[in-house]
Amino acid sequence: MALDKDENGIFQVAIDGPSGAGKSTVAKAVAASLGVEYVDTGAMYRAVAHKMRRLGLSLEDAEGIASMLQGTTVDFVGQRLLLDGEDVTDAIRSGAVAKLASDCSALPAVREKLVAAQRAMGEKKSVVMDGRDIGSNVFPRARHKFYLTAAPEERARRRLAELLAKGEDLSFEQVLDDIKLRDHNDSHRALNPLTRTPDAVEIDSTDMTVEAVLAAITGKIMEDRGAAAQAAVL
Ligand code: DC
Repeated sequence: MALDKDENGIFQVAIDGPSGAGKSTVAKAVAASLGVEYVDTGAMYRAVAHKMRRLGLSLEDAEGIASMLQGTTVDFVGQRLLLDGEDVTDAIRSGAVAKLASDCSALPAVREKLVAAQRAMGEKKSVVMDGRDIGSNVFPRARHKFYLTAAPEERARRRLAELLAKGEDLSFEQVLDDIKLRDHNDSHRALNPLTRTPDAVEIDSTDMTVEAVLAAITGKIMEDRGAAAQAAVL
């Protein structure tokens, strides 16, 4: 897909929304269709949670967490996530890591470290970045912002199918309760909570296919960039 370039040749697409709304599937496809890199910021919070579990660090241990963060690196190599050089892409996908990621993402020291890393990634090259606070906090001036959501029951259905395919044995009610708890945590924390900024385009994917969501997002990006290119000529 051909795109006009921003002044410095770099642009960001922010895709925020609650757990299980389909952000990563869609963001990955949008990035591929634009020919830019995809950054899954939720995976970065999961990586920190994974390390906390390994080290047995509690959420209350501010000193331990601060020193752990100092010696921690989180990098993407293509679609793989390296924690201190080790590939943890698959290890961070458990329910236990997801729960701790939601909890530790409320800690200022964790957010400070990961937000700085995310800004560094999106300032060097164009990215599609998904998360909770990309349009509101990481890149408030992002050219393209989307808020992708879906009814909690539909998100629970999708998440349950994923977990069952991986051999995790959970009921629909357990997954729905977990989704509601994470929604509450992610939207009510003091620092950079999940929120829809007024300039983000909201897409409710409850009754939409992945292809339809993808078409809506790429269509809007092309429309905006086409308008920007015209304005530059006038
Ligand atoms: O998208 P995910 O489920 O992989 O994210 C895991 C947790 O990380 C989520 O519960 C909230 C947190 N998170 C965040 O606070 N800010 C982001 N930009 C992305 C994720």
